[in-house]
Amino acid sequence: MNQEDYLPEDAFEIAGQVGAAGGADDGEDAEATRREAGEAESSRASRGWWDRNADEYQSEHGAFLGDDRFVWGPEGLDEAEAALLGSAASLAGKDVLEIGAGAAQCSRWLAARGARPVALDLSHRQLQHALRIGDDVPLVEADAGRLPFRDASFDLACSAYGAVPFVADPVNVMREVHRVLRPGGRWVFSVTHPIRWAFPDEPGPEGLSVAASYFDRTPYVEQDEQGSAVYVEHHRTLGDRVRDVVAGGFRLVDLVEPEWPAWNDQEWGGWSPLRGNLIPGTAIFVCERD
Ligand SMILES: C[S@@+](CC[C@H](N)C(=O)[O-])C[C@H]1O[C@@H](n2cnc3c(N)ncnc32)[C@H](O)[C@@H]1O
Repeated sequence: MNQEDYLPEDAFEIAGQVGAAGGADDGEDAEATRREAGEAESSRASRGWWDRNADEYQSEHGAFLGDDRFVWGPEGLDEAEAALLGSAASLAGKDVLEIGAGAAQCSRWLAARGARPVALDLSHRQLQHALRIGDDVPLVEADAGRLPFRDASFDLACSAYGAVPFVADPVNVMREVHRVLRPGGRWVFSVTHPIRWAFPDEPGPEGLSVAASYFDRTPYVEQDEQGSAVYVEHHRTLGDRVRDVVAGGFRLVDLVEPEWPAWNDQEWGGWSPLRGNLIPGTAIFVCERD
């Protein structure tokens, strides 16, 4: 697919070389709280946080993610094995949108299977890391809540922990993905498993005792001294996520809860072998558009 086939005139693309990171505030003095955060504040906080923290994220997790692997989450479930988007052979020639692509590792894996991926992310710095790895995938800097593509531009859409956990209005994202997919298209996305919100985000034994209500949807917010959010994550229960998918016009065809594999001895924030063997850490929603 040529870029002019899917990009409307007002779309903006990433070009250029890796340069200086964005934002000055590294968020170290931020205060953690639970409070409401709307769409604009969440989006602004995400862009700033990921611009400031992309370097650290890629240096800490880049080896695990690989330059051209498609990993669904800290358990290490690989799309090569899971085939949630379809068999590897079926990907050839498919137009695929990756949302919250970070350094576009998943898109690179898709391209190697003959697919035509487009990697979208809100963070300029994350996309600069994509360019650092290679300039082989088209990159688009945009918000998942306002996809700069024409209707019915893609056969598949995917997101490994990108955007969905960070937006205040996930139904809007579902509707946008539905709009840009062709009939019969598949949308697969992973998020932190909702049950994790009831537990402290700690990899050790202290992360095994319920400390908050699973039913409390109040967002997790880190805010600066002026009270402006510098990081936001939104909690939805499992039922909320199912209703969001349906409200977006999709059929839910599977909900995958990857088990922690014996080979994986790596901790990733609050995800660890200890907790992973006891409670799910990731939920992957496999959806279809009729
Ligand atoms: C946890 S990272 C995941 C990146 C990549 N999928 C991976 O597995 O490494 C989340 C990504 O979502 C992006 N993101 C957050 N909110 C977004 C939004 N509203 N629209 C688009 N991307 C967003 C961030 O910039 C970040 O790159």
